[in-house]
Amino acid sequence: AYPKRVKVVEVGPRDGLQNEKNVVPTPVKINLINMLSETGLQVIEATSFVSPKWVPQMADHTEVMQGINKLPGISYPVLTPNLKGFQAAVAAGAKEVSIFGAASELFTKKNINCSIEESLERFDEVMKAAREASIPVRGYVSCVLGCPYEGKISAAKVAEVSKKMYSMGCYEISLGDTIGVGTPGSMKEMLTVVMKEVPVGALAVHCHDTYGQALANILVALQMGVSVVDASVAGLGGCPYAQGASGNVATEDLVYMLNGLGIHTGVDLQKLMDTGTFICNALNRKTNSKVSQASCRL
Ligand code: HMG
Ligand code: MG
Repeated sequence: AYPKRVKVVEVGPRDGLQNEKNVVPTPVKINLINMLSETGLQVIEATSFVSPKWVPQMADHTEVMQGINKLPGISYPVLTPNLKGFQAAVAAGAKEVSIFGAASELFTKKNINCSIEESLERFDEVMKAAREASIPVRGYVSCVLGCPYEGKISAAKVAEVSKKMYSMGCYEISLGDTIGVGTPGSMKEMLTVVMKEVPVGALAVHCHDTYGQALANILVALQMGVSVVDASVAGLGGCPYAQGASGNVATEDLVYMLNGLGIHTGVDLQKLMDTGTFICNALNRKTNSKVSQASCRL
């Protein structure tokens, strides 16, 4: 049975833009988030408080956080890899943060420059500070269905890292198919193992569409009881430390599928498509959303 409602976590302003070669002007980012806020989305990941030397595109994190209209009822989480990032995020007005680990040693090293074990120690510091500040923390686990450096990743390893981050106090664990290599088969196998360690109500899926499998993988996750799905407007994005990784599943396509299944999201598809058009025009790019392509009768 499918969930009655699904929470869509919009990651476009962060995951979607972090890999853009040219620096996107801050007002464009702010406009994008403000438009997304009008679509009915409840969660919009706004930016990340990572090192500007590592990800120059996110260097304007404070300006973005301070420039957007934060509407009541909408959460605007930001990525924080360590205590320094957490403190900067809070100073900029963040009310929710995400820590991001991985089920792959080599990816962790390339992405956040430490081992999995060291990353968990850093996350622990963030968790403690967040608890004191009453800030909810979401946890990402990357490479859950494969790694650009290690190849196959065992479901047991994904479950182990997910359990550790959940036990630390993350209210939700977002399972990232960073390079989009998963299939409905591997998604089902991985979730079966992870769900033994983390309750399905605390799981989200975060599918990149590199191999065109994202919607199929999400459908399997929904069938298994997952009711939180990450997506990126216009299918923007990729991870700078996962070469060739293309964007997340397009939010428009996800909402179209959920509408078709009769699953409530609260998201207005037309407003979402208009937002996709805005950001694609600003980036001078064609949308990756199939639904938007089909609707552009040019
Ligand atoms: P490091 O170089 O090991 O850090 O980077 P360090 O602690 O040794 O410090 C070195 C310098 O960085 C120092 O400055 C620090 O102050 C500074 P210096 O003295 O040289 O001037 N620094 C910071 N500056 C700003 N913000 C901070 C911060 N921390 C230290 N938070 C670090 C470690 C984690 C900072 C670095 O590796 C980094 O920023 N990585 C970013 C990686 C990233 O953003 N990746 C993309 C997001 S993850 C993703 O996309 C996957 C996901 O979508 C899920 C999926 O698809 O699977 C979430
Ligand atoms: Mg991602």
